[in-house]
Amino acid sequence: MNRITPHDINLESALAGIVGERYVLTDPGVKLAYERDVTGRYSGSARLVVLPADTAECAATLAACARHGAHVVPQGGNTGLVGGGTPRAGEIVLSTRRMSAIDVLDESAHQLTAGAGATLADAQRAASAAGFELTLDHGARSAATLGGLAATDAGGSLALRYGTMRRHVTGVEAVLADGRVVSRLSGLMKDNAGYRWHDLLVGSEGTLAVITRVRLAVAPPAGRRVSALFGVRSFSAALALLSSLRAHVPGLRAADFFTADGLELVCGQRRLSRPLRAPHRLYVVVECAGDGDLIAQLTGAARAGRESSAIDLDADVVVADDSGARARLWAYRDAQNEAIRANGVPHKLDVSVPLGQLPAFAHELAELLETQRPAARLVLYGHLGDGNVHVNILGLDESDERVDELVLRLAATHGGTISAEHGVGVAKVKWLGLVRSAEEIALMRSLKAAFDPDGVLSPGRVLPVRTAR
Ligand code: MLT
Ligand code: ZN
Repeated sequence: MNRITPHDINLESALAGIVGERYVLTDPGVKLAYERDVTGRYSGSARLVVLPADTAECAATLAACARHGAHVVPQGGNTGLVGGGTPRAGEIVLSTRRMSAIDVLDESAHQLTAGAGATLADAQRAASAAGFELTLDHGARSAATLGGLAATDAGGSLALRYGTMRRHVTGVEAVLADGRVVSRLSGLMKDNAGYRWHDLLVGSEGTLAVITRVRLAVAPPAGRRVSALFGVRSFSAALALLSSLRAHVPGLRAADFFTADGLELVCGQRRLSRPLRAPHRLYVVVECAGDGDLIAQLTGAARAGRESSAIDLDADVVVADDSGARARLWAYRDAQNEAIRANGVPHKLDVSVPLGQLPAFAHELAELLETQRPAARLVLYGHLGDGNVHVNILGLDESDERVDELVLRLAATHGGTISAEHGVGVAKVKWLGLVRSAEEIALMRSLKAAFDPDGVLSPGRVLPVRTAR
């Protein structure tokens, strides 16, 4: 049980004076939702959870925490998968959820400004109500917040066409660890007056500042949308299909994949029937948009790729052109994470490799696990178009870190990265050196020291905590 000291009470009452008593959570039962992550792998008992209403309250909150020498971990929708927003014992969780207001969309600039706590789904709805599209999406849309998406440079399925969150963020308002506010929300496309410090906050995982508002580029709607699901026999065949799709379908927006094993898990958990007549080792689900004959383009791509990918148009492809049917097709892909979790706490590694290396990476990974961890159940899925593989391993002890290392080393050996879109968090800190040089890590440390010299924000995330010499 945590003992409350007079020091805690002072900070607690200071924070209550800033945000109001009901937004300082100390009750163990109420704090719980902020203390555990969705994977079940990361949890910690927070000293308290504080929910400021706006940037000014967030600034006063951080200033008070800094005065009390308290460590703070910013948290959005708590949908992260690497422990970056989950507290460690004694840390303060600063939840951005109340900062969720969405401004009227700036139609001339094609930009939307919103509080960091607005969910992706709410921002998507606001953009579409104004006749635009927020071209970033992923499965956790109803809980994931814009601040969290910016702090982790979230990717998702549409990154193939529109880039990750980084390409959408045109401005940021944030609070530094000592409570000073820095704001650059003008959204000017051309603004070369000095360093674009706000770009640094994208992907900084809460270690440099707390993002309180973001400005995002939106796009005119892409037009009619069509999805298709293809069954293929191997990763090489999937890549052949992808190049054929790229050549024939100019409006290709997403190309994700999942395996036969993942399909079994999803069908079992959601009670869904198999999407295709024949069983396949691998499935590729795509979305395209535009004004041409999209169905003809998709079937044309499948026909052209048939030689190498052995696609039978009658048995191995299903096309969906209304929104209900599209959602049903994508559910086989979007439900992978949840279906895996329903079968245990997986080792989850989010890597990416150069596309050409994907078949070898997948093959070697399966072989290594078979010989070194015969009890492992490997389930791969992810974003085929950008080589981003979500590696999930069930059936092993949660503490078996050597299996994580095996996956990350293999990705690095193939010229890939140890984190494609989920971040480093606490999960991958010790392996950062696999993909970043000592000079790069030293530069990251200098940046951390410039933003947060006392190490108040998210200690131990991204970079290891320095031990005193
Ligand atoms: C996804 O693509 O579904 C997300 O990145 C989450 C996950 O890895 O499961
Ligand atoms: Zn993903």
